[in-house]
Amino acid sequence: MPLPVLKDELPPAWKLEEEIERLKKERNAVILSHYYQESEIQDLADHVGDSLGLARAAQKSDAKVIAFCGVHFMAEVAKILNPESTVVLPDMKAGCSLADGCPPDQFRAFIDAHPGHFVVSYINCSAAVKAMSDVIVTSSNAVKIVQQIPKDQPIIFAPDKHLARYVQKQTGRDMVIWQGTCIVHETFSEKKIIELLLRNPGAELIAHPECEEAVLRHAKYIGSTTGLIKYAVSSPVQTLIVATEEGVLHQMRRDAPNKSFIPAPPEDESCACNQCPYMRLNTMEKLYLCLRDLKPTIEMDEELRLAAKRPIDKMLEMSTGI
Ligand code: 13P
Ligand code: SF4
Repeated sequence: MPLPVLKDELPPAWKLEEEIERLKKERNAVILSHYYQESEIQDLADHVGDSLGLARAAQKSDAKVIAFCGVHFMAEVAKILNPESTVVLPDMKAGCSLADGCPPDQFRAFIDAHPGHFVVSYINCSAAVKAMSDVIVTSSNAVKIVQQIPKDQPIIFAPDKHLARYVQKQTGRDMVIWQGTCIVHETFSEKKIIELLLRNPGAELIAHPECEEAVLRHAKYIGSTTGLIKYAVSSPVQTLIVATEEGVLHQMRRDAPNKSFIPAPPEDESCACNQCPYMRLNTMEKLYLCLRDLKPTIEMDEELRLAAKRPIDKMLEMSTGI
C-alpha cells in the first residue's frame, strides 16, 4: 500500500530537496531515475537513464538503499540484480500497461501453445514473465539481440506488439507476437504529426519503437529514450518533434538549449496523454517519504529472483558494446 501523503508529515516545499539530500546521505542511498520522471526528480537523481542504463546502474551500485524513481518492473529488475540493497519505489502503484497486460498464467499458456520457440521478452514485464523467458530485451538492444538468435530458431516476442513489429522489420525474423501495447505511445496521432511537420519545414520526427507503425514510418530516428536524447542533441536539425513520453524533453532542453523540441501531439489534445500516468505517480513528496521510512520496498521470493535473473544476465551478456 502506498503511504498517504499527509501535509504535516512533510517538510515545507522549499526544503524538500535539501531534506531528500540529507536522507540520501543518512541512508547511504542512491537515487535512480527514468527520463519519464518529473524534472525535479531527474535533477536530483544520481543517475538518469533508460531501462538498460538503469539496470546496469542498479547492478553496479554499492549503496545500501536504491530509491528507484521509475515503474515497478524497473525497480524489480534493480532488486533482481542487486538483492543486497533495499530497493524502495516511491509509489507501489507505479505499474505499466505492458507489464499489466501480460499476466503470467496467460503467458504460460501462450508459451505452451508454441512449443520449441525461443522466448524474447521486453523488459516491460513482471518478474514472473521474465522467469519464463529465454532472454530479456530493452528498446536499445532488442534488434541486436534478436539478430544473434540462430536463423532457424522460431521466436516468441512479448509483450509489446509495436516493438515486436519494428524488430521484425529490422531483422526480417518471423515472430509469434503477444498483442500488448503502451497506453502512452499508442495515443500519438499520425495526422497531427504530419500537420506539424508541414507547419515546421526542416523539422524531424524522432520516435520510441513502442509507437504505432503509422507514426514510426515518418520518423527520421527510432530508438530508446537514451537514443532519442543523444540523437536530438547531436543532430544538426534545429526543430525536433518527439514521439515519446514528454519527460525526455527535460534532458533534451537541458543538453541542447538552443534547439526547439516539440512533444508529438496525441489524438485528443485536451488530455495529458503523452505523460505516463504510472511514472507520474512518483513525486518529490513520495520520494522523501520512501527515503525517510524505507518503504515501500520491493520484495521477491529467492527462487523467482534467480529464475528472472537468468534471462536478464543473458541480455547483459548479449548487449556488450551497446
Ligand atoms: P526506455 O528503455 O527506452 O527508456 O523505455 C522505457 C519505457 O517504458 C518506454 O515506455
Ligand atoms: Fe509502461 Fe508505457 Fe508507461 Fe513506459 S510509458 S512505463 S511502456 S505505460
